[in-house]
Amino acid sequence: MALTSIGPALRRARKESFAVPLFDTADMQSTEGMLRAFSEKEAPGIIGLYAGMLDHPNARALAAYIRIRAEEAPFPVSLMLDHGGSPDQCRTALDYGFTDVMYDGSRLSLEENIARTRAVVEFAHERGACVEAELGQVGSGSDYQSFGARRKGFTDPDTVERFVAETGVDFLAIAVGTAHGLYDGDPQVDIELLRNIASRVDIPLALHGGTGCAEEQFRAAIASGISKVNVATDLFMAAGERMAGVAAQKSYFEFSRLAADSFCERSGYYLDLLGATGKGGPR
Ligand code: 13P
Repeated sequence: MALTSIGPALRRARKESFAVPLFDTADMQSTEGMLRAFSEKEAPGIIGLYAGMLDHPNARALAAYIRIRAEEAPFPVSLMLDHGGSPDQCRTALDYGFTDVMYDGSRLSLEENIARTRAVVEFAHERGACVEAELGQVGSGSDYQSFGARRKGFTDPDTVERFVAETGVDFLAIAVGTAHGLYDGDPQVDIELLRNIASRVDIPLALHGGTGCAEEQFRAAIASGISKVNVATDLFMAAGERMAGVAAQKSYFEFSRLAADSFCERSGYYLDLLGATGKGGPR
């Protein structure tokens, strides 16, 4: 049974300088493709469910499906809430059997972000789950020129030690120049800032907004302390393109098969790039 909190794998990643990906899923096909890639690459991995999906009527059933399939996986697989919007939403995810949760209080004041993150940590730890929080604010790629490219929302390194000490959080998402979705322009990861943050805390650090980052930026970020990388848009776009390529066939079964294949191939690409391949077994 490999369904498990990703805590041990991420702590190993931080020590051994590789990164474990979180891929956001949407359905059975995307989940199946990711799981096949984790298995083929003998890698640990995180299947993320974006918080908005938790409000869908099939959320509990989808979580149960992912859990059962992950239990059958040969290597550690976590089911993680991505960008939980409130402590209540994190509690719901744990009730649905998620192994880890992200609580995103990045839009709040520092004090409020600390207080709410600490509350989530308390009840999540009681249930054996790890918690990721966000400090600074990772924006949207479509606003990149007016936000990230101007260093808006970047994590203030002077707040990091206090935030981690007072919340007891397990992993920290930081804002160092990436953004969610397609970028308006090219992302620039501030490696100096990342190094500065990594020198202050020893918990795994997460880089969100993986879509559109150059391979060298991933390598530099991992060498400088990133242990978790979130990717979503790229996987969905690649699958969409693959399906559009056979649209004339009008075969639902063909679309479905190609979608899973595409998720598997793109997930495999990232597992290799992030150095997670072969890291699923005991060290
Ligand atoms: P992208 O969609 O930009 O890859 O970002 C994913 C992400 O960070 C989810 O939390």
